[in-house]
Amino acid sequence: MTATQGQKIQEAAAYIAGKGGVKPEVGLILGSGLGVLADLLTGTVSIPYHEIPHFPVSTVEGHDGELLLGFIQERPVVMMKGRFHMYEGYGPELTAFPVRVMKQLGVQSLLVTNAAGGVNMDFEPGNLMLITDHLNMTGVNPLTGPNDQSLGVRFPDMSEAYSRRLRRLALSTAEQRGISLQQGVYAGLLGPTYETPAEIRMLRTLGADAVGMSTVSEVIVARHAGLEVLGISCISNMAAGILDQPLSHDEVMETAEMVRETFLDLVTAIIPG
Ligand code: 6GU
Repeated sequence: MTATQGQKIQEAAAYIAGKGGVKPEVGLILGSGLGVLADLLTGTVSIPYHEIPHFPVSTVEGHDGELLLGFIQERPVVMMKGRFHMYEGYGPELTAFPVRVMKQLGVQSLLVTNAAGGVNMDFEPGNLMLITDHLNMTGVNPLTGPNDQSLGVRFPDMSEAYSRRLRRLALSTAEQRGISLQQGVYAGLLGPTYETPAEIRMLRTLGADAVGMSTVSEVIVARHAGLEVLGISCISNMAAGILDQPLSHDEVMETAEMVRETFLDLVTAIIPG
């Protein structure tokens, strides 16, 4: 007999829990080039994704696949170093899986980071943006299919996808530390192409401030599971048609590298809350 989704989640969580004494309260999912956040962990236990029962394995360059358990400022955390993008061909159930495993491990809040293109003309590469809300433009919803009532309700409320409490905390933390933080709406698209200039104009008209290829499916699953969510984008480049230059993954990685100290500082300071 094949295992149900609920059994798979429990098997993965049991394997992870058996690897060390950390019972995580906060989950972190790190974007392109931001894997250095892993350096902040103390008492680290590292588990390659391929060792974890039923876990998907990530394929993109620059996204190493391992789950890390440890402490940031005494707070127990679980960190996904490398995430699963739908453009890699994973079905919606697989992108959902790690977030559900985090919930099963005891996580109550999820901090997601990503590298995103700037759509808002007031932004500049290297800015950090607190995600206030998102547009799911991926064309799918990871909760499609029969609903397992034990994981969450059939029709989850999304009116506060990004927690007001955690946004306030992020803003006050940034202010205290003299870090400037933009705020805006993140549009999540399937990718893997970057957008055309016409698509960027469309997204701007629709209310997007930044655009990327991750985060929305994880946040949908996290809200379904009742987790509180905080999202921060690193604006790694301006989106297509704004500057007279082509976009490249190298540029995305280079900018993420440039702001990493500030980014690390902000995230470390937020975690204890
Ligand atoms: Cl411009 N678009 C998308 N979809 N993802 C990105 C990006 C742009 N810049 C960084 N990531």
